[in-house]
Amino acid sequence: MDTYRIATIPGDGIGTEVVPAAQEVLERVGARFGIELAWTELEWSCEYYARTGRMMPEDGIETLGGFDQIFLGAVGYPGVPDHVSLWGLLIPIRRAFRQYVNLRPVTLLPGISSPLRDVPAIDFVVVRENNEGEYSEAGGRLYRGTADEVAIQESVFTRRGVERVMRYAYDLAGSRRGRLASATKSNGIIHTMPFWDDVFRELAAEHPGVETSEYHIDALSALFVLDPGRFDVVVASNLFGDILTDLGAAIIGSIGIAPSANLNPEGAFPSMFEPVHGSAPDIAGTGRANPLGQVWAGAMMLDHLGHADAAEAVMGAVSHVLAETGVRTADLGGTASTREVTAELLTALDREVAAR
Ligand SMILES: NC(=O)c1ccc[n+]([C@@H]2O[C@H](COP(=O)([O-])OP(=O)(O)OC[C@H]3O[C@@H](n4cnc5c(N)ncnc54)[C@H](O)[C@@H]3O)[C@@H](O)[C@H]2O)c1
Repeated sequence: MDTYRIATIPGDGIGTEVVPAAQEVLERVGARFGIELAWTELEWSCEYYARTGRMMPEDGIETLGGFDQIFLGAVGYPGVPDHVSLWGLLIPIRRAFRQYVNLRPVTLLPGISSPLRDVPAIDFVVVRENNEGEYSEAGGRLYRGTADEVAIQESVFTRRGVERVMRYAYDLAGSRRGRLASATKSNGIIHTMPFWDDVFRELAAEHPGVETSEYHIDALSALFVLDPGRFDVVVASNLFGDILTDLGAAIIGSIGIAPSANLNPEGAFPSMFEPVHGSAPDIAGTGRANPLGQVWAGAMMLDHLGHADAAEAVMGAVSHVLAETGVRTADLGGTASTREVTAELLTALDREVAAR
């Protein structure tokens, strides 16, 4: 039995509904593949903030450092400004643990109809820079509330930060179909983006087997809709990757299924696995949240832990439920509850494992 200590942070809203659903699926697959997931639930959330004035305790990062991986639902709730929940929990975790790669697969699963017409196979991965870029604390606001008010926000792009995420993307493309696209905007953003392009081109020389292309972010967004089949791996800065992957989630049918892995590729620190979606206050408490994004994130965690066979079994069960049964939540055009989808997944998983 391989045992892993996993910190779970269900967070807010539907995070508290989809995390237990995914845990059930992961436990079932773990039992079949000799993997024990020892969960410790942490109540860090906007509710915790309302009680304590902090999203996590002062020694929160130290606490998380004692775990192998982190499994997160979503944080954010009306009443707590979004920048508080993001900067009080998610961003410190991503940075403290050098989770500099945010890996977001964009794959159209069988049985799901994309909102796009005449859609080809969609199967690419966005590698989003996760530690620096446009999401920085450098800047400030002057003369607040007056006619002279000024807001300045600096971006931070370091050679070390850009090189390491691009190297990861080049290697990933090399292990897939050998095509890497870079998201840039060096016509309008004249310091950081030409630097981004320079590093991208320098590293191309080290990876002769990878075919490269560069797109301005505006044109790239249009191509995600018009010709998504052309992409294999896309590397993007923190902000561009964030926006592109919500669009990616939309073209594969629903934000409710898209997964996200915040990786420290060296394994020196825990990585963190979460769905792309947020806490969805509009449907929280109704029992109608789609658990598939959280489950897929769980499959990515198993893969990262070195259990590719267990991860494949989970994704096989997801594909079976989508392709062979009508059991799906409202975001995918169905009427099933979170509970019903989870029960169907467990049945499909047993079938998947038995067939192996
Ligand atoms: N990583 C995170 O924790 C994270 C990410 C994004 C947003 N947020 C936070 O979540 C809150 C809500 O943000 P938002 O409304 O912009 O984005 P959201 O992803 O929570 O919701 C967008 C829309 O998608 C739907 N949706 C999302 N996930 C779904 C699921 N699993 N099943 C069915 N439908 C689903 C919602 O009902 C909503 O209509 C905000 O406080 C925001 O800051 C957190």
